[in-house]
Amino acid sequence: MTVQIDHALEEIRRFRPSPEFAAQSVADPALYEAARADRLAFWADQARELVQWEKPFTRTLDWTNPPFAKWFDDGELNVAVNCLDRHVEAGLGDRVAIHWEGEPGDSRDITYAQLTDEVKRAANVLESLGIGSGDRVAIYLPMIPEAVVSMLAVARIGAIHSVVFGGFSSDSLASRIDDAEASLVITADGGFRKGRVFPLKPVVDEALAKTEGGTVRNVLVVRRGENEIEWTEGRDLWWHETVTDASNEHVPSAFPAEHPLFILYTSGTTGKPKGILHTSGGYLVQTSFTHKYVFDLHPETDVFWCTADVGWVTGHSYVVYGPLANGATQVLYEGTPDTPHPGRWWEIVEKYKVSILYTAPTAIRSFMKLGRQIPQQFNLRSLRVLGSVGEPINPEAWIWYREVIGGGSIPVVDTWWQTETGAIMISPLPGVMDLTPGSAQAPIPGVEVDILTDEGEPVDGENGGFLVITEPWPAMLRGIWGDPERFKQTYWEKYGEKYFAGDGARRDEDGDIWLLGRVDDVMNVSGHRLSTTEIESSLVAHPWTAEAAVVGASDETTGQAVVAFVILKASQVSHITDPNDASEELRKHVAVQIGAIARPRQVFIVNELPKTRSGKIMRRLLRDLAEGRQVGDTTTLADTSIMEVISAQVR
Ligand code: PRX
Repeated sequence: MTVQIDHALEEIRRFRPSPEFAAQSVADPALYEAARADRLAFWADQARELVQWEKPFTRTLDWTNPPFAKWFDDGELNVAVNCLDRHVEAGLGDRVAIHWEGEPGDSRDITYAQLTDEVKRAANVLESLGIGSGDRVAIYLPMIPEAVVSMLAVARIGAIHSVVFGGFSSDSLASRIDDAEASLVITADGGFRKGRVFPLKPVVDEALAKTEGGTVRNVLVVRRGENEIEWTEGRDLWWHETVTDASNEHVPSAFPAEHPLFILYTSGTTGKPKGILHTSGGYLVQTSFTHKYVFDLHPETDVFWCTADVGWVTGHSYVVYGPLANGATQVLYEGTPDTPHPGRWWEIVEKYKVSILYTAPTAIRSFMKLGRQIPQQFNLRSLRVLGSVGEPINPEAWIWYREVIGGGSIPVVDTWWQTETGAIMISPLPGVMDLTPGSAQAPIPGVEVDILTDEGEPVDGENGGFLVITEPWPAMLRGIWGDPERFKQTYWEKYGEKYFAGDGARRDEDGDIWLLGRVDDVMNVSGHRLSTTEIESSLVAHPWTAEAAVVGASDETTGQAVVAFVILKASQVSHITDPNDASEELRKHVAVQIGAIARPRQVFIVNELPKTRSGKIMRRLLRDLAEGRQVGDTTTLADTSIMEVISAQVR
């Protein structure tokens, strides 16, 4: 298989950092040299410099049992202490950790001392509920400070969090609770989104009614939306009646570096999401390292804002662990970018003098659509570094971001990584490198990648191929929760000890790496990962559906969009007078089953699907249709005339 290359991307300028920026940059070329000279010694140095160890490590990497890596494994630390107590002990207790902005306009500034106190109280409550080291806690919260507090309180006592994005349905939540056998759920009555309260606790109640394991003993509820909720006596507890009254004395224990820190579910190529497992020491080292050097962090003066929700890995690594380990001041915003007006984000940048902004190309493209007159109403001169993550950023969006948001002179870093990698892997370091719009450019110091052919040979010249990571890295996933076989099969079967990322990539003549999107049945919608198979399973679970095929079609704003082709059951066809009603019903059904993010942009009702002689659906042809292109080669179809029939139905 070859990966398609977009030659339109060729004629691109490079941007040299300004001399002023380069002069104050925390990164310098010596980092690359040190990593090249001795990769493991480099990571050991970073680990000693960036992290506080209760027991120092003597072994950097144990890779004797691949693909199960151990980093710094005889060392001990407490991740929450690294994010909190040590800053307070260093005299930084009065520094603001979080400028929180609620969607309705309420706000709170929380210092490191206050955050530490709150986490200690929450840790005491968790322990009083019988949660201990290794127990799983599901977190289903809006973007409120209690989300950060909950994650850190879980980490502090050595339990394992599984944060579930608040937009996921009760079915999705239930399956994640069951898979991890969680004993506690932390949620809120509701949160604010698009000017309304969206209920969360009712979804938890529904999910718990559906769980099979019956493992959940308690539900801890933050009051936020003040919406009506039901209450199960003996099981449900209010945060403000427990955490607020708890003692703020809490003595932390040290845990081994390889102690599990969290599970985060992400879509794979099958219908069942994978619980990606991350551990403590290596994860903290690489998240704090990348947060410091990729964003050129000066913690005394910078205000960092990563717009991701804590329900995604970006929120774990660059809202919670990276910034707090580095003692940074950051913004946390509850709501959507356009509520109550389309300039909301820029108003927040102005209000808090945000200096580093990290967001997704989808957001940038939707601001481009609205026009530059909106950000131009605000003072954005505090910004000095811009970051992008989650999907390929097209050069036009990169340049608009730099010009309109960044005022034309500040660096934009395109960062490639995954839930599985835990932290940024491929990204320029600003101040050190010339920047190429649209390219993530080069692996960070200490990370080794390559681009291979299907057969495992390095690709020649500018040809595209499959991205692999050739050496273990500190923040790498340690497995899939409860499924070591799937872990081996998904990432390690194709190329042995080289990690198969599932992305296409190519190198240009300057050696810059360009990411070309997924090469498997995973879609990327607005920077969120969705599985075609998972959505197909949801569609066929509807009583009207006989067969379904889902593709990710390119979309100007969201990168890709979900497009489904559905054959209805013969018994249903006569009852449905308007196929639009069926499409609408099925779109809604997916949103209810998985969550609104998975709702197909379009559902086409068709009589046939294109299949090969062996019965495999040819998604490539459906993608051509969904993207309005001439349909490609149909010679391998069992019935070559089928595409004409389907095309006529889709028009
Ligand atoms: O396809 C790549 C894309 O997002 C996938 C990872 O998704 P997820 O685990 O949800 O994590 C997203 C946030 C880290 C990758 O396999 N991706 C992520 N960043 C980029 C990207 N594609 C191109 N350029 C990027 N900078």
